[in-house]
Amino acid sequence: MVQVLIARHIPEAGIEKLQNAGLELVYIGDRQLSKKELIEKLKEYNPDALVCLLTDTIDKEVLSSAPNLKICSTYSVGFGHIDLEATKELGIVVTHTPGVLTETVAEHTAGLICAATQRIVEADKFTRAGKYKGWEPELLLGLDLKGKTLGVLGAGRIGTRVAEIMHHGFGMRIIYHDVAENNYLHDTVDADFYPELEKMLPNVDVLTVHVPLMPSTKHLLDKNKLLMLKKGAVFVNTSRGKVVVESDLVDVLESGHLFAVALDVYEFEPEITKKLFELPNTVLTPHIASASKETRDKMAEMVADNIIAFFNGESPKNQVKL
Ligand code: DGY
Repeated sequence: MVQVLIARHIPEAGIEKLQNAGLELVYIGDRQLSKKELIEKLKEYNPDALVCLLTDTIDKEVLSSAPNLKICSTYSVGFGHIDLEATKELGIVVTHTPGVLTETVAEHTAGLICAATQRIVEADKFTRAGKYKGWEPELLLGLDLKGKTLGVLGAGRIGTRVAEIMHHGFGMRIIYHDVAENNYLHDTVDADFYPELEKMLPNVDVLTVHVPLMPSTKHLLDKNKLLMLKKGAVFVNTSRGKVVVESDLVDVLESGHLFAVALDVYEFEPEITKKLFELPNTVLTPHIASASKETRDKMAEMVADNIIAFFNGESPKNQVKL
């Protein structure tokens, strides 16, 4: 019987699919495993398939501890936590969950942009603290979005959807940087492409980050680049924390160069630079941009579908190209 090790419980929709397909599920824990614990579980069960999460480090040492392992299905669209060289060498197929979370992450990003520019979190704290003593002409002044420029760093599925929402819904002008032009963005929101990131940044009022984590994007944004943004710009990141040097971001925010920062991801998550808690102009969410009930169910189903297809001798739909 095919054995699937589930590194941590995922929504029931996926678990049921795997069970109904007649696969044997082993270890469904309810907490994050350390690398050592994951290796122990893999050695104990030597499963045929592994369901992992973006919080697991899937390197050669982990993968080699289960010689039977044939497929690793991550419950995430990002796969920067998986060593693809090692999976290639060991002949292990990797699948992920693209597409289903695009809308949810884009909506969360739009929410963060609004929260940061309208100072919603700060205003909420102010009101709850009993500080609201009556209408004031200059209380908690924020920024309008209409007519401002949204810089999209990474114009893939999510970046594109954020651009559409912010252009059609809020009247923002869209510019973007990526390794290639995105014709759809030109046609739908009249976006301008900047082949050089350094040339785009000085034109940006709100920067939204949507690149995957890869060697070429790690620490792509450091102090120099952040200081290239317009003074008073807003910085938003719902992709991966390691794309930004977090200490540089804090310095630039503290220097007064940025109006606000809104983050769903952190360089050393779950650790977060303390200063980000202390500064008033930050909006911080705990890596929940894709966390709607519908989307998380769909992601779990995709994880299951990919594994089931593989053991039925078909190519899984969402195989990562190695
Ligand atoms: C992903 O899937 O990569 C998101 O960051 C979390 O859902």
